[in-house]
Amino acid sequence: MKEIKKYADQWDVSAQYFYDKGDYSWMAQKLTDYSTVVELGCGTGYSTLALAEKGFKVLAVDKNTACLSKAKELLGSKGITDSQVIFIEGDITDEDFRKNLIALYKFDVVICWNVGSYWGKEMVQYYVPHMLRYGLNIQQIRENPESSYSELIIWEVCRLAKSMNVSAHIVDRNAEIINEKNDPYYYMLKNEFEYSEIMYDNLIANSISDGGRVLTTNGTVNRSNKIDIVFVSILMR
Ligand SMILES: C[S@@+](CC[C@H](N)C(=O)[O-])C[C@H]1O[C@@H](n2cnc3c(N)ncnc32)[C@H](O)[C@@H]1O
Repeated sequence: MKEIKKYADQWDVSAQYFYDKGDYSWMAQKLTDYSTVVELGCGTGYSTLALAEKGFKVLAVDKNTACLSKAKELLGSKGITDSQVIFIEGDITDEDFRKNLIALYKFDVVICWNVGSYWGKEMVQYYVPHMLRYGLNIQQIRENPESSYSELIIWEVCRLAKSMNVSAHIVDRNAEIINEKNDPYYYMLKNEFEYSEIMYDNLIANSISDGGRVLTTNGTVNRSNKIDIVFVSILMR
């Protein structure tokens, strides 16, 4: 519980920073043809707020109850009502959760922004069987738990989106620009899930690491205050 709360407090600082700089607004602008968004991993709600402000109806999902509480408080304080944003506690890797979501709601895009992060050894251990089923091996998971977890989540997002025949929008924080020329991964997903189109965009940005949620890139923990990052936007449809 302590870890969950600490994660929420740290992420809240990072997320507010991104919101204030207009980064979430940039992400939301990529979703031009949709009305109802499933947001997987809504965090403390700053991304959800940007979506609601653009007029989307949002089904905001997170498994961290401390994040969800903060998100509800934030959107309530901005006058966003239940008719615009529905908060749902759930884990994207849980099959029953996905089945219920599909049975209960209609949506036309599934989004997953900046989700590949975890808050402790125990959490990673819980997901090891899922990562193995997805196709990673123990060595890969041990060497880079953060990227392994991220890959698992992105794959689950595509699986959910494709099962409903809707688009998937991923935003990931990266050290460099990714496009069709150097894409190491997403194009493979496009083919695996038989999407007909993949659209890339990049936003040069920065993140507070120490002081907000500490950022780990390629297995390295970054302790500097401000670090350069690229938000990579991938829309598959
Ligand atoms: C780094 S935050 C990003 C939040 C938001 N998307 C944003 O860009 O501000 C990642 C969020 O994803 C949630 N998350 C991670 N794994 C998840 C899972 N398996 N199911 C549901 N939520 C998850 C975490 O609890 C956390 O709140």
